[in-house]
Amino acid sequence: MQICRDLPSLRAATAALRADGQRLAIVPTMGALHDGHLALVAAARAAGADAVSASIFVNPLQFNANEDLSRYPRDEAGDLAKLKAAGCDLVWMPPVEAMYPPGSATVIEVGGPSSGWEGDARPGHFRGVATVCCKLFQQSQAEIAAFGEKDWQQLQVVTRMVADLDIPIRILPVATVREADGLAMSSRNRFLSAAERATAPVLLRVMTAAATAIAGGAAVAAALDDGLAQLRSAGFVPDYLALVEAETLKPLTARRADGPMRLVAAARLGTVRLLDNIPVG
Ligand code: PAJ
Repeated sequence: MQICRDLPSLRAATAALRADGQRLAIVPTMGALHDGHLALVAAARAAGADAVSASIFVNPLQFNANEDLSRYPRDEAGDLAKLKAAGCDLVWMPPVEAMYPPGSATVIEVGGPSSGWEGDARPGHFRGVATVCCKLFQQSQAEIAAFGEKDWQQLQVVTRMVADLDIPIRILPVATVREADGLAMSSRNRFLSAAERATAPVLLRVMTAAATAIAGGAAVAAALDDGLAQLRSAGFVPDYLALVEAETLKPLTARRADGPMRLVAAARLGTVRLLDNIPVG
């Protein structure tokens, strides 16, 4: 497994793969890797990539002033061992100065699916995500990029950006990997106390009940209110629980018949903010 820490060495490594006729995939990450991330490596390979690269870069541009960038978990040695065991071929781990040299003055602002939900909760977040993903696609020249459905809104924002900017890369969505009790794997789960960890799977259970009720014809507002009440009584502080159009993230007040719907949620348990989403119907 090759490790690149500067752009010239990444360019040389990916050029050699291309010259050899190999189709390259990229798995963008911020490190602190778990089985959810590793599923993206496997999915990229299964989708036809001959070589799979992963990037590890804690992107300062997607953290706002209230979020603690320095608290983000980092485990370089552990991450590299996991990627190697998962069959990753190349790791791109640039220092911040390589990604954003002094004088950098260009950002990518995606409209549409960036609005609402995480876009409201974390101002500037998707601008940072879109900018770094665009750069990672340009830097790697990969043909496939794998993203987790865990971050549904992010997946839609990146998909929109690639379409709008004619970036020649295929976005590969990968199903959310969960713990045995249903909790979506996340690098934030390590911050849950034992009691909070025991409560955390209630989020998916409540969402599944709401999705089933809505798919079965229940009134949307009532099903969502009911779900929010259940989350509060379990000890969550919900930010939102909403039914949306799957691709645009526009809120729905009634079931739609013309395309996929998604239930999206964010809820705090103590200091940890849990995010999840599931299909409806
Ligand atoms: P990070 O949170 O490290 O996640 C990297 C990728 O792993 C994302 O595509 C995310 O959706 C996926 N992922 C995380 N948990 C998952 C799970 N339980 N199941 C399936 N996939 C999961 O998301 C980011 O980093 C950053 O915003 C990034 C895209 C790298 C840009 O900086």
